[in-house]
Amino acid sequence: MSKKPVKKEVPTTGHSWDGIEEYDNPMPRWWLWTFYACIVFAIGYSIAYPAWPMINRATPGLLGYSTRQDGEAALIAAAQANDVINTKLAETELADISKDPELVTYATNAGAAVFRTWCAQCHGSGAAGVQANGYPNLLDDDWLWGGAIDDIHTTISHGIRNTMDDDARYSEMPAFGDILEQEQIAQVTNFVMSLSGDADSPDMIADGAIVFEENCAACHAEDGTGDRAQGAPNLTDAVWLYGDGYDHIFAQISKARNGVMPNWNTRLSEPEIRAVSIYVHSLGGGE
Ligand code: HEC
Ligand code: HEC
Repeated sequence: MSKKPVKKEVPTTGHSWDGIEEYDNPMPRWWLWTFYACIVFAIGYSIAYPAWPMINRATPGLLGYSTRQDGEAALIAAAQANDVINTKLAETELADISKDPELVTYATNAGAAVFRTWCAQCHGSGAAGVQANGYPNLLDDDWLWGGAIDDIHTTISHGIRNTMDDDARYSEMPAFGDILEQEQIAQVTNFVMSLSGDADSPDMIADGAIVFEENCAACHAEDGTGDRAQGAPNLTDAVWLYGDGYDHIFAQISKARNGVMPNWNTRLSEPEIRAVSIYVHSLGGGE
C-alpha cells in the first residue's frame, strides 16, 4: 500500500484495460546507447565491408575485403608452401627419400590422402585388398611385381596389363582349360595345394608335379615361389589373389584371370605418385 503513491508519479500511456493502467517508463539509458552504438556500427560496417546484396554481387566495401580472395590466397600459399617439398620429392633419388625424415613424413601423409582418393575403391581403405577378388593386399610382404620402392613406383606409374601405357607391367597366364585335360588340371591343382598345405587328393600330387614342371614352372618357378618379373605369384604361401581351396585354384588354372590396374602417370603428378609409392611402401611390406 505504501509504494503505490510513488509509482503514481510515473505518467501512464493513457491505456487502460479493466482499470489496469500502463506506465510510460522511458527505455533504460544503457539499452538506448547500446542500440545507437549498433546502428553506428552497422553503418560503418556496411561501408567498410561487403554488405548489401546487389544484382550480381554484394557492395564491395571500402576495405576490399573478400572471403573468396582470402580462400584463394590461402590455397596458393599452401601450394607454394608445398612447392619446395614437392620439387624435392620429385628430384630426390627414390632410394634416398627414406633417408630424409622430413620428406618421408610429408610423403606418407600426402600419399595417404592420394590413396584414399584414388586407390581405396579397389585396394580397400586400409589397403588390405579385397580377398579372392584379384585386388591384392598391399599390407603384406607378398608382392606380385616387387616390393622395393622402385618396383612399387614403376607399378603405380605404368599400371598393370592396361592398354593405355606401353610400359605397363605385362604377363598373361594362359587359360589351361583349353590346353590341359580336366584330369591334369585336377592333378596340378592338388600339387599347388600341397605347396602351402594339404591337397584334396594326395595321390594326385606326384602327377601334378610333372604337369607343373612342364606347364607352370616357366612362370611360377620350379619350386612354385613365383617370378616377379612376370607378376607370377608365389604359390607356396597362404596368400591368394583369387582365393584358396580346391575350387578357386582349379578355376584360376582353367580360366586364368589376369588382373588389370590403370596407369597413374597421366592422372597424378610425379610428386603424388612418389608420395603414394612411399605410403604403400611404408604400410608394412615394403622391401
Ligand atoms: C581399378 C582398380 C584399381 C585401382 C583404382 C588401383 N589398383 Fe592397384 N591394383 C589393382 C589390381 C587388380 C592389381 C593386381 C594386378 C595383378 O594381378 O597383377 C593391383 C596391383 C597393385 C600393386 C602391385 C602389388 C604387388 O603385389 O606387386 C600396387 C603397388 C598397387 N596396385 C598400388 C595402387 C595404388 C597406389 C593405387 C592408387 C594410385 C592403385 N593401386 C589403384 C587394381 C587397382
Ligand atoms: C605365362 C606365365 C604363367 C604360366 C605359364 C602359368 N601361370 Fe599361373 N599365374 C601367372 C600370373 C601372372 C598369375 C597372376 C595373375 C594376376 O595377377 O591376375 C598367375 C596366377 C596363378 C594362380 C593364382 C594364385 C593366387 O594367388 O590366387 C594359380 C593357382 C596359378 N597361377 C597356377 C598356375 C598353374 C598350375 C600353372 C600351370 C598349369 C600356371 N599357373 C601357369 C602366370 C603364369
